[in-house]
Amino acid sequence: MGYENDPGSIDAAPVTDWVNDWDWLDSQWGTDAIDIWNAVREVTPMAMTERYGRAFMPVTMNAVSAIAKDTENFSSRFVSVAQPDAKRRPAPPITSDPPDHQGHRRLLLPSFSPKRIEQMEDELREYSRGLIAELAGRDTADAAAEYSQHIPVHGIAQMIGVPDSDADIFRDWIYRNFQLAPRDNRVREEVTADMRAYFGDLLDARADDPRDDLATLVTNAEIDGEPIDRELKLGYLLLLILAGIDTTWSAIGSGLWHLGSNPSDLARLKGLSFDDPLWLTMSEEVLRFYAPVTMGREVIGDTTVAGCPVRKGEQVLVTFPAANHDPAAFERADEFLMDREVNRHLAFGLGIHRCLGSNLARLEMKVAFQEWCAAFPEYRIDRSKRTTWTNGQIRGPREIPVVLR
Ligand code: HEM
Repeated sequence: MGYENDPGSIDAAPVTDWVNDWDWLDSQWGTDAIDIWNAVREVTPMAMTERYGRAFMPVTMNAVSAIAKDTENFSSRFVSVAQPDAKRRPAPPITSDPPDHQGHRRLLLPSFSPKRIEQMEDELREYSRGLIAELAGRDTADAAAEYSQHIPVHGIAQMIGVPDSDADIFRDWIYRNFQLAPRDNRVREEVTADMRAYFGDLLDARADDPRDDLATLVTNAEIDGEPIDRELKLGYLLLLILAGIDTTWSAIGSGLWHLGSNPSDLARLKGLSFDDPLWLTMSEEVLRFYAPVTMGREVIGDTTVAGCPVRKGEQVLVTFPAANHDPAAFERADEFLMDREVNRHLAFGLGIHRCLGSNLARLEMKVAFQEWCAAFPEYRIDRSKRTTWTNGQIRGPREIPVVLR
């Protein structure tokens, strides 16, 4: 299993022109995406490529917001930019358009309410401390492999009702889905079959033996009194595991990478009470600056975005992270300001699909940062080793070598 900053075994020519030939799986995306978006924005609000059929990449707040809000011309039925003939399978609510979307979202929403998520805090802290305890006596560590990647798996696995011990299986699905599948339909079919088999067994198990978890909620789900198709039930579970892990793992990892690279920012957190608002503003700035998630849409009506015509059948990214660096939307957009007061970032998207797991993600980030910084108040990135970043839909560090003390 590889989590390298590479596109796996699938060859593609390196990008030399990000305005006319962008590729989110190019190896520069992981490490240089922010510079790439900023450079494109100097030339155009909408870059394009023919690598996945014709597909556009908006880089301004206005263009990204216009696409995310326009569900008449942009469909979510396929939320990755991939080969045009990739098979579409439902994973509601993220792949649902109005009017179906609302019912699917309403089904899951109560499980992610602030009140429900707050109850997880003590247990998540204990879990994070357990990971830190395993580093006792060590001078160096990998803050991704030994810390940030585990916390979101633990959180969502508990909620769905699947064992933490299957974490390697989940991470393998994530790697194949996000790093390989956009270029290769065969990989998409294989990984989807693996996921469907796993969750098919889970649905059957909960039908026989219901529990207090999301898997049981989905197994027995009805919308407006009507039972839900098994295909959709599999889609809910696939989405929850994919959306619940890689995203927050990337956000926690990016924050730890930032603090380990910027000792003056880290020093401001030293000895700080866990109630101090700086923890929250710092987390929000991590979300703005290092927003991990870029989505895709299929164009279903001819229209124009930022003066650029887009046609039915083409694809667009919803490049939320690029919007977060638009100087027209944020003062000092390219500076990381730990106490930025007004921070209307788009890391969680906007419009009807705005992230349903944001309360969980924020809690996991807060707990992860607080426990790590309390344990290692002067850690730093180990520059003698390589930090690797993923490309594509979910961007974040996958190896973060650190000196702990
Ligand atoms: C820092 C972590 C996270 C980030 C940055 C993030 C980002 C996003 C974004 C940008 C969207 C909008 C998608 C679109 O417009 O197509 C979204 C939707 C969604 N997210 Fe998250 N997410 C995070 C964590 C989570 C977690 C922990 C879960 C828990 C399962 C989750 C579940 C979902 C779901 C179910 C949707 C679809 C909502 C809908 O379509 O109505 N996310 N997320």
